[in-house]
Amino acid sequence: MANKQSATKTTGRINAQPRLHQRASEIQAYGTVNHALPLELEEPVRLEMTEQLNQLLADTMTLRDLYKKSHWQVAGPTFYQLHLLYDKHHDEQVDLVDSIAERIQLLGGVSVAMAADVAETTQIERPPRGRDEVPVQLSRLLDAHQIIIREVRKLARRASELGDDGTNDLAVSEVLRTNELQVWFLSEHLVNVPLVEAKEPSLTANCRQTGT
Ligand SMILES: [Fe+2]
Repeated sequence: MANKQSATKTTGRINAQPRLHQRASEIQAYGTVNHALPLELEEPVRLEMTEQLNQLLADTMTLRDLYKKSHWQVAGPTFYQLHLLYDKHHDEQVDLVDSIAERIQLLGGVSVAMAADVAETTQIERPPRGRDEVPVQLSRLLDAHQIIIREVRKLARRASELGDDGTNDLAVSEVLRTNELQVWFLSEHLVNVPLVEAKEPSLTANCRQTGT
């Protein structure tokens, strides 16, 4: 077969056989940036930005997966609303992952992509394979958001200092704002308010009950 294929190359005849199982060296190494892009951003700036964006990407991919795990494994009286909320937040994180990854490529870098590489890079604590109860799910998600919010604020400030306005805009307008809003929606589920009866009934209600 190999002989036939090479014969096709030399004779120029068309062969319908797909070229399977091909491998070759990488065309660009991870951690590098293309040299000459007409972006008006110097190579050291693009190197620093892509490195920080890859950290943010790995953490955002981990949070994305933590949302799907929570969506599948949630249990209890709030199952339905949390099942839906977790999936909504997951989908919003999917959009952020794509925006961050494509910003890295646009800057001439190489985006981290595969789960094993993400697991080695992320700063977010690995959860157990089994199911957590709801308050633990919510706490894990909030901890992950906190890490991302801290690093994206740092990234936004640095991007601004270096003149990388596009990265600053992505960091603030998309990543920071989305994470802040999701934190609010999660946090309100951890407020211990009564569902049926107020903890300390008001004086008026007491009077009504006793007829005084
Ligand atoms: Fe689902």
